[in-house]
Amino acid sequence: MSDFHPVFWQIHSDLPRQGPGNFEATKQAFSHVKGLPDSPQILDVGCGPGQQTVDLATLSNGNITAVDFYQPYLDELKQRFEAQGWTERLKVVCADMADLPLAAQSFDLIWSEGAIYIMGFDRGLNKWRSLLKPGGYIALSELSWLKPNPPEPVQQFWQEGYPSMRTLEENRAAMETAGYTLVDTFSLPESAWWTDYYTPLENKINQLKIEYEQDSGAMEILEAEQQEIDLYRHYSQYYGYVFYIGQIQEN
Ligand SMILES: C[S@@+](CC[C@H](N)C(=O)[O-])C[C@H]1O[C@@H](n2cnc3c(N)ncnc32)[C@H](O)[C@@H]1O
Repeated sequence: MSDFHPVFWQIHSDLPRQGPGNFEATKQAFSHVKGLPDSPQILDVGCGPGQQTVDLATLSNGNITAVDFYQPYLDELKQRFEAQGWTERLKVVCADMADLPLAAQSFDLIWSEGAIYIMGFDRGLNKWRSLLKPGGYIALSELSWLKPNPPEPVQQFWQEGYPSMRTLEENRAAMETAGYTLVDTFSLPESAWWTDYYTPLENKINQLKIEYEQDSGAMEILEAEQQEIDLYRHYSQYYGYVFYIGQIQEN
């Protein structure tokens, strides 16, 4: 964590979300999860400040275990639940998603928006499967190629930023291979990138560029963040966030 320049955490704090998404997308994905108990046990991995955690609590009557390795996000999330009077429904765990200290627990639903890429799509699917109850569901949003032959700038950017990014079809197949029956997939609309994520992020970058004008290291980080936004502005038809919803296969 200390390896990051402080500006990185400044960019990524006090934002509604830390990745593309919105209530409608979370609701649509949740609508495919059937037969949950009255009070399901839900695990939200890489929850960040937890907008989707709050949305899940709104959509379900569940108890949610929310995991992130950045404690300030978990503190923010706790405050959000307290404000709703839902303190009892939330447990936060500050841990590495690749080594979750949850071996004694099992869940009806595992949720992860924009975070499984950190440990790798296949690795996450395989590792987290043991935490699901029989018949349990998994719902993930993941950056995916939507169209073949992306232009050079897009290809080059993601070759550096996320070389293992796959197509929607490849990820669907990967879910089946990892032991899940695919229930649904859908692409997030462009508004889910802008409203709660890129627009507030871009405003933040512009403010910080003034503050860090003399700091070349910080400016480099800020330019890279801006480049990602500009890329999406021009080439959004080639890649996007896709929700993948699956149910664990019976043995
Ligand atoms: C792109 S953000 C998504 C956050 C949130 N789900 C959202 O959509 O707003 C990824 C999150 O994963 C967390 N994270 C990164 N590496 C992690 C790790 N190894 N273990 C647990 N959380 C991690 C980050 O702190 C961040 O909150």
